[in-house]
Amino acid sequence: MELRKINKEDAKAQWEYTTALPEDENGLTNPYNGVSYEEYIDQVLQTLISYEHPVNMPDWFVPETYYYLWDEGHLVGEFRIRHHLTEALRNGAGHIGYSIKRDERGKGYGTAGLKLTLLEAKKIVPEDEIYLRVNKDNIASQKVMLKNGGKIVGEDEGHFFVRIQKNT
Ligand SMILES: CC(C)(COP(=O)(O)OP(=O)(O)OC[C@H]1O[C@@H](n2cnc3c(N)ncnc32)[C@H](O)[C@@H]1OP(=O)(O)O)[C@@H](O)C(=O)NCCC(=O)NCCS
Repeated sequence: MELRKINKEDAKAQWEYTTALPEDENGLTNPYNGVSYEEYIDQVLQTLISYEHPVNMPDWFVPETYYYLWDEGHLVGEFRIRHHLTEALRNGAGHIGYSIKRDERGKGYGTAGLKLTLLEAKKIVPEDEIYLRVNKDNIASQKVMLKNGGKIVGEDEGHFFVRIQKNT
């Protein structure tokens, strides 16, 4: 199993994943649901790659790197790292967002993928803790976080706020 940064060589598999990912599933948003392969190649892929080193983006935009989880030649999930916190991210979605392909869920990929993503996040993120947020009714994702050392430190009406120490 490996985590590969978004790239042009894997375009077909990345597009298949992105175009099938719902617009909003448990708070993980995706504006590219249903996008054609041509549009993905011409616009979306370059946009997503550029997020790591954003150009001409508004002040609030935090650099974000997309990774895909691969197992035996199959792309099984997507993991996104936002490089640092802002007030909005601190009280919102935090550093990391992820999803696993529908027909690959419940096989341990979420847990294993977050573990690999945390290794990357620990190199990038300047804060002492990795911030995560999860919907209260998203039991699978809560388990993924807690099995990776996550501690619930707060909540609002619909979410738990979870933190993972960088030195664990
Ligand atoms: C959340 C998500 C990433 C979990 O990925 P996954 O590969 O299914 O996770 P795992 O296989 O590692 O399972 C983690 C735990 O959740 C449990 N689980 C999996 N699906 C579940 C479900 N539908 N209901 C309850 N528990 C579930 C697993 O049994 C496992 O628990 P265990 O270790 O006690 O057996 C995946 O369901 C997903 O992509 N959901 C949609 C997007 C999303 O919610 N992203 C997270 C936003 S915070």
